[in-house]
Amino acid sequence: MNIVEKIDKLKEEKNAIILAHNYQPKEILKIADFVGDSLELCIKASETNSDIIVFAGVDFMAESAKILNPEKKVLLPEIEGTKCPMAHQLNREIILKYKEKYKAPLVVYVNTTAETKALADITCTSANADKIVSSLEEDLILFGPDKNLAYYIKKRTGKEIINIPEDGGCYVHQKFSLEDVYRVRKLYPKATLLVHPECNPEVQEEADVIASTSGMVRYVLNSDEEEFIIGTERDLIGRIELELEKLGLKKKLIPLRDDAICKEMKRITLEKILKSLEEERYEIKLDEDTIKKAKKAIERMIELSK
Ligand code: 13P
Ligand code: SF4
Repeated sequence: MNIVEKIDKLKEEKNAIILAHNYQPKEILKIADFVGDSLELCIKASETNSDIIVFAGVDFMAESAKILNPEKKVLLPEIEGTKCPMAHQLNREIILKYKEKYKAPLVVYVNTTAETKALADITCTSANADKIVSSLEEDLILFGPDKNLAYYIKKRTGKEIINIPEDGGCYVHQKFSLEDVYRVRKLYPKATLLVHPECNPEVQEEADVIASTSGMVRYVLNSDEEEFIIGTERDLIGRIELELEKLGLKKKLIPLRDDAICKEMKRITLEKILKSLEEERYEIKLDEDTIKKAKKAIERMIELSK
């Protein structure tokens, strides 16, 4: 049996499901039962009947799956290397400091730890951030940790957003600069530029489309255009290519930068997924109180996203 057959066999024997984020490489996307952006993965995790969820992604995504399925076994095939650095920029101490100063609801990006979500009024993702913030009555909002997503929300909602911590952000998306935009646009003047809201404001301003990872996939698939510059993690291109192949289509996909790689996402491998299923490791464990509070914040978001 090859490795893919072994994974499939174990999945069936153990009633397990593999959820993979859009940034995973093609070989992992191909063995996944469901692939999506953070919001879609949260929704899928809330709906599954499987006993085991194996998460091909980073720590906060597997934690969200556990929060939504406390009775199920949620496994992350690699623990140490899969911590999303941005998700650890916002902590209890910072939140309490700002909550003391401002009487405002706290909206946290889903890219946060379970402890941080437990202190939030509601979570949001890149796919629904403006909708979630608009749904709140208050005009002053505490938001964290991504200051670029805060910029995007402020622009779309007109609300006052206090970003905590002031300088939060993703090292992969912060790499993209105006120079990258000008250089690639010069090479491909007809291409449509799609960027993620985690990109810097000046890059967002130059974009034709700002969307979550799945929003970008849908845009390319449904568009009549032929060339696209992709301003997010590089492997999203592989994800779009797989979808285009299924439809028998071919389009030109150009990375805004070749080195936009999330090394935490790339720590997941087929070998580690197999080991994870064989040994049921590494299990996500969270305390009951954290789960209860964080679940409320995530479920409120899922309800509003329907
Ligand atoms: P999406 O929710 O758009 O997939 O983004 C997740 C992420 O981590 C982007 O860096
Ligand atoms: Fe975290 Fe950035 Fe990687 Fe997304 S791309 S998982 S925000 S480090």
